[in-house]
Order: sequence, then C-alpha cells, then structure tokens
Amino acid sequence: MQIAGLTDAQHAEYLALVNAEIRPSGPGTTALDDFPLALGRDNLAWMLAATDGQGRLAGGIATLVRTFTTSCGDIAIGAIGSVVTRADCRGQGLSARLQAAALELLRRQEVPLAALWTDRPEIYAGRGFVPAGWEWHAGLETAALPVPAPVGVVLREWAPGDLSATQHLYERHRWRTHRREGDASRLYGMPGTRGLVAESGGVVRATVFCGKGADFPDYVTEWGGDHDLVLCLLGLARARALATAILVPAGEEAFAGRLAGLGALPLALPAGCWAVPRPDILLGAAQKAGVAPPPAPDDARAWLGGVTADGDVEPGPLALAVWGFDSV
Ligand SMILES: CC(C)(COP(=O)(O)OP(=O)(O)OC[C@H]1O[C@@H](n2cnc3c(N)ncnc32)[C@H](O)[C@@H]1OP(=O)(O)O)[C@@H](O)C(=O)NCCC(=O)NCCS
Repeated sequence: MQIAGLTDAQHAEYLALVNAEIRPSGPGTTALDDFPLALGRDNLAWMLAATDGQGRLAGGIATLVRTFTTSCGDIAIGAIGSVVTRADCRGQGLSARLQAAALELLRRQEVPLAALWTDRPEIYAGRGFVPAGWEWHAGLETAALPVPAPVGVVLREWAPGDLSATQHLYERHRWRTHRREGDASRLYGMPGTRGLVAESGGVVRATVFCGKGADFPDYVTEWGGDHDLVLCLLGLARARALATAILVPAGEEAFAGRLAGLGALPLALPAGCWAVPRPDILLGAAQKAGVAPPPAPDDARAWLGGVTADGDVEPGPLALAVWGFDSV
C-alpha cells in the first residue's frame, strides 16, 4: 500500500469514498458542500491517498491549513478531516499511516499545531491527539431570547451582497482564522447553511449562520456583531426552526455569560483533539509574545488548556478559537 499526495485523477474517487463512508445516511448535502475549502480541488496539495496494488484508492485524509490569531501571535494550524479507509482495508493500520503522513507533512511545512473533531478519539490518540481547548455549547430552546427586534432594525435572510459586511463582523472576533481571499464566499454560501442578518440604517449590524450541512445540523455555527442584535437573530433562528443550539468559541466568554443569564445553560466542552507537530515553533511564538511556555511543549493540552472533569475551563498559555465554519 503506497501513501502519497492525492492526485487530481483520484479526487472524485476520494470524495465518493468520503460521501459513502462518513455520511452513509445520505443527507441533503455532500462532503464537498460542507467542507468546500478542505476538500476543494485547490487544496489537493494537502490531501493524501493510500493506493493499493491495483491502483485503487484504499484511503485518504485531508488537511486545511490556515493562520489563526492567538494569544501568542499569528499561528498556522492544520485542521485534519475526511479520514477514511475503504471497508475491505480496515484494521491494518492504514488510517494510522495516513494520519502519521499528514502530521509529517505539517512538520515539513512548519505548521506547529494540528486539530481534528471526532466522536471517536481512540482512532487518533496513537498519533498524540488529545482533547484540548474549550468552547461553549448553549441550548436555545429554553433561553429567554428577546423578541421583537428594536425599532428601526430589520431582521432578514442573509444575501450574497452582505458578504463584505459579514467578513468585517467576523474580523472583530479576538480569536479567529485569517480567512484567505475567496474563503468567505465559499463558507457563507454553503448549501447547508442559512444566514440571518440584523440591519439598521442600511448597515448590517449582526449576523448568525445556522447549520453546515450534515456537519453541525441545528447549530448556530458562526455569529458576529452587536450582542443584543445577535440575541434577536437567535430568537428568529429558533422561531424558524433553523437552530436549537449555538457554538460559542473561546474568547467569547462575555457572550456565553449573556446566554447563561437568559437561561441557555452554556456547557464547556473541549475544542476538538489537538497534536503539536512542531513544538519548536510554538516555543518561539510564546517567547516572542512574552508568554511562559508549558513544561511539556509537545503536549497540546498543556498549551491550549482544556475542560476539567467537573466541566470547568482551565486556560493554557495559548488561547485561540476555531469557529464552526473553520472546522473540517
Ligand atoms: C475510522 C477508520 C478511518 C479507521 O481506519 P483503519 O485503517 O481501519 O484504522 P487503523 O487500522 O489504522 O487504526 C487506527 C487506530 O484506530 C483504532 N481503531 C480503528 N478502528 C477502531 C474501532 N472500530 N474501534 C476502536 N478503535 C479502532 C485502532 O486500534 C488504531 O489505534 P492505534 O493506531 O492507536 O493502534 C475506518 O474505520 C473508516 O474509514 N471508517 C468510516 C469513516 C469514519 O468513520 N472516519 C472517521 C471519522 S472521525
């Protein structure tokens, strides 16, 4: 079994394998709809394939590398996803080899952190991935959300003409991804997503985005702008049955506090599973930022902090956030 970069000719076969094996119930969207950046053809350089002796695809893995704003300056993160092994090739260590190859690629390309999201962490633990960081998950069903909108504020569906205003609101978040040219239009235009905006005086003041296809159904995965208006939009999203919960990333504790005050009961959970392919780069970033590094620099939990067994947040020296649209 040979592991190498996924070729252009293998791209369609990989997408078909991901669609068949990771979403067998056939949701209304495809994997490419939900992960347009990680699985897009223009990201081929970050996809790996295992090919069998007959030249057939036996497994694959995709990584999306972007730079994030963090408490230690801008840091590149490789988000790993769409991990799949063909059914007749499982249990032979193929996925473990693909994961190791993805980490090696990150090491070579000087990407210090790797992240992934899974409900089966045992598949990745052998490569050093551990739950780390935190984010808040809050239910909207019982929250006392404000309705109606204040006088002069119009609540309406998001439209492509709102793109640059939406990007500006996203860029106000303290911890976020530096999205590349073209990323935002692909993310906000995902078929499985419904956006809502609050507008006054012809200016978009707040946004919420509900769902991300089969990934994050019923969730508000991204929001931005004036907190009072975001709360109005959450009320509208709930009334239209677009979302029953909201993701509040690290750094947005003030908003999590607002939700708690309205009875939404935010719950802190780890922000995915993380590994540190290049601790040397993290050490350099911490030194430059004047942040004391953890004693074990190859331990992601020591850098990012996490959630204790009691559900309390335990911050680490490196603060960052991955918004729902940026997870893969
Ligand atoms: C999950 C999947 C990728 C594993 O592929 P694989 O090639 O059989 O995996 P490997 O043999 O390399 O095993 C990798 C690790 O996962 C563990 N593992 C694999 N299948 C497992 C299972 N069913 N239960 C528990 N652990 C399992 C192995 O013990 C191994 O751990 P180690 O490396 O620490 O020893 C494969 O079953 C698959 O494609 N499933 C459908 C798609 C999917 O669920 N993808 C993952 C999305 S998060």
